[in-house]
Amino acid sequence: MASEAKSMLAVYAEKRDVDNPLTGLTVGQLPTPRIPECWVRVKIEAATVNYHDVFTLKGIGHHPITFPRILGCEGVGTLDDGSRAVIYPVMISPGYIGDETKDAKRNVFSELVDGTMAEYVAVPRANILLLPKQIDPVSGAVLGIAWLTAYRMLFTKSGLRPGQTMLVQGSSGGVSTALIQLGAAAGMRVFTTGRSPEKRKLAGSLGAERTFESGETLPEQVDAVFDTSGAATWKHSVASVKTGGTIVICGGHSGFELPTDSFRLIADQLSIHGVYAGTIDEFRSLVSFVAAKNIKPCIGKVLPLSEGAEAIRLVSEGKTHGKVVLTVGDVAV
Ligand SMILES: NC(=O)c1ccc[n+]([C@@H]2O[C@H](COP(=O)([O-])OP(=O)(O)OC[C@H]3O[C@@H](n4cnc5c(N)ncnc54)[C@H](OP(=O)(O)O)[C@@H]3O)[C@@H](O)[C@H]2O)c1
Repeated sequence: MASEAKSMLAVYAEKRDVDNPLTGLTVGQLPTPRIPECWVRVKIEAATVNYHDVFTLKGIGHHPITFPRILGCEGVGTLDDGSRAVIYPVMISPGYIGDETKDAKRNVFSELVDGTMAEYVAVPRANILLLPKQIDPVSGAVLGIAWLTAYRMLFTKSGLRPGQTMLVQGSSGGVSTALIQLGAAAGMRVFTTGRSPEKRKLAGSLGAERTFESGETLPEQVDAVFDTSGAATWKHSVASVKTGGTIVICGGHSGFELPTDSFRLIADQLSIHGVYAGTIDEFRSLVSFVAAKNIKPCIGKVLPLSEGAEAIRLVSEGKTHGKVVLTVGDVAV
C-alpha cells in the first residue's frame, strides 16, 4: 500500500433505519485502517454482499452497532507480501479456546470492527487463510459467510448422508445457492423452493433434482430441510420434513417469530438446529472441498466497489441470482 494513502473508497452505514435501510448507506472516502499488533492489512480484491449488511443498515445485530461502520463480512485480497488470502469471518475474544461460533463475545467483520467493502481492511492474523490457486478471488470471496454457514448446516448439523433428500427454502440467495451446490456435490438429492420460474431454473442448473413453488406441497417428505428465511417459509419447512427428520435454520429476514405446531415437533420427533457461521476448521475443510471438487460458486452479479449501493439494493429487494460481489481493480473471474 502506498504509505501516503490516508483515505480509501468504502461502502458504509452512516445511520440505522429499520424501515428504509438503504437511506443510511454511503459510498465514499474514509480513513485507511489502523493495523493493530498481530493483525494484518488486506488489500481487498473482492468482497460480497450478505443479507447481514441489510440488517446492519436496519440497526439489527448481535452487538450494538456504532456508525459509521464499513459493511462486508467476507472477502479475498492480498497481504503486504503479495500472497492472496481469504478471510475467516468470525473473531473471538482474547484467550477464548474452542468452537469459535460458541464464544458469547464472537463477532464478524462489520459488527465491532470495520468490514471488507473497502480498499483495505485490518484482519487478525489468525483469521487469514491462503487461498488455493484453483479458486479465483471472486469465488473465494463468497466462502466466508454464506458458504461457511451452508457447510456447517449441511455437514455438521443436518446428519444427512449421500443419497438422502434435502429441501432448501429459496433458490437464488447466497446461503441457498451454496446449500444446493454443496448438497449436489456431496451426493444428496436436492429439492428447492423458488419464488419465480427464473429462480427455480437457476436451482436446477446448480444441481437441484426437483424445484417447487414457494409453499407447494412436496410429493414426498424429505430427510432434512434448510431454512434461511424464517417466518415466511417455516410452516412449510415443518410440514415438509419426515418423521424423525431435521430442520436447520440460519436466518430470519422474513421474520424471527416462527409459527410452530409443537404437536408435530413432539409426536414426530423433529430436530431443529440453529446455525451461526462456522468454525475455522470447518472453513479450512470448506475451502479444500471447493478446491478439490472444482466447485464454481454461483455468482449472480459482479460490480465495482463504487457501485456498492446498487449491490446492496439488489440483495435488500431479493433480486438475487446467486451471490452479489464487489471488486476492487481488475480482478479475474
Ligand atoms: N446464522 C448465520 O451465520 C448466517 C449466515 C449467513 C446468512 N444468514 C441469514 O440467512 C438469511 C439468508 O442470507 P443470504 O445472504 O443468503 O440472503 P439472500 O441472498 O438475500 O437470500 C435470501 C433467500 O431467502 C429466500 N426466501 C424465501 N422466501 C422468502 C421471503 N418470503 N422473503 C425473503 N426471502 C425469502 C430467497 O428465496 P428466492 O431464491 O426464491 O428468492 C433467497 O433464497 C438471512 O436472514 C441472513 O441474515 C445467517
